[in-house]
Amino acid sequence: MLKKFPKTEQYDENWIHENWMGPNPLWLLEELCQHLELKPGMKVLDMGCGKGITSVYLAKEFGVTVFANDLWISPTENLKRFEEAGISDRVFPIHAEAHALPYAEGFFDAVISIDSYQYYGADELYFPCTLSKLVKPGGQIGIVVPGLTREFDQGYPQTLKKHWVGEMFSFHSKDWWRHLWEKTGIAEITACYEMENPKELWFPWAIWAQEHLRFDDVDFLNSDRNNDLSIIVMSAVKHE
Ligand SMILES: C[S@@+](CC[C@H](N)C(=O)[O-])C[C@H]1O[C@@H](n2cnc3c(N)ncnc32)[C@H](O)[C@@H]1O
Repeated sequence: MLKKFPKTEQYDENWIHENWMGPNPLWLLEELCQHLELKPGMKVLDMGCGKGITSVYLAKEFGVTVFANDLWISPTENLKRFEEAGISDRVFPIHAEAHALPYAEGFFDAVISIDSYQYYGADELYFPCTLSKLVKPGGQIGIVVPGLTREFDQGYPQTLKKHWVGEMFSFHSKDWWRHLWEKTGIAEITACYEMENPKELWFPWAIWAQEHLRFDDVDFLNSDRNNDLSIIVMSAVKHE
């Protein structure tokens, strides 16, 4: 049975559907936030915020100030959404590529990233040389990424061969992600696990994306006959 996400339930489903770019970002964020301690006034970077609904959620639920950073979505469009949501005084839309971020080192109390970090963060250098530097000592870092239950010799399960393209080669297991950060000695991992029933979490988006965007995510999920796909949650605290 699908887990309940009581905070997300308070948000308009149509608004989520108009603006989601993958499996319900608010479900994934609500799960991640169980492992973070966010307090009013904190500065939070939302990396790869897409259309910014996670940024709205962070500002509304925790009273934090959010830098809503994205590459594909125009910051002007996001500003309009933040104004409509009544939080544009504390959510700032920023257009920046993950390797050219315009922030000072140690600026953020926390960085979160929902269904985005796999596009750039699977590079061994990204965590030690970029992401972790933006966070203060004692600051928090949390990601949720699509992934795999285990590593495969070819990088993907045979059942998904016809679907496996490009950025999917950065789908990895939870242990792979843990090792990527842990070996740097920069932060202590506070959570690293697979969400329960990942495909049930994924299907509502897949069905919507098939209908509205002609994506083949439904076939992709149905092809995963051995349940090798996963959704991975990982959080860490940067050492003092
Ligand atoms: C699948 S979408 C998810 C968006 C949003 N978090 C959500 O769940 O609806 C991935 C997002 O990552 C961002 N992204 C991908 N590569 C990036 C990069 N190199 N630098 C900054 N953002 C990037 C894209 O702009 C995109 O909005």
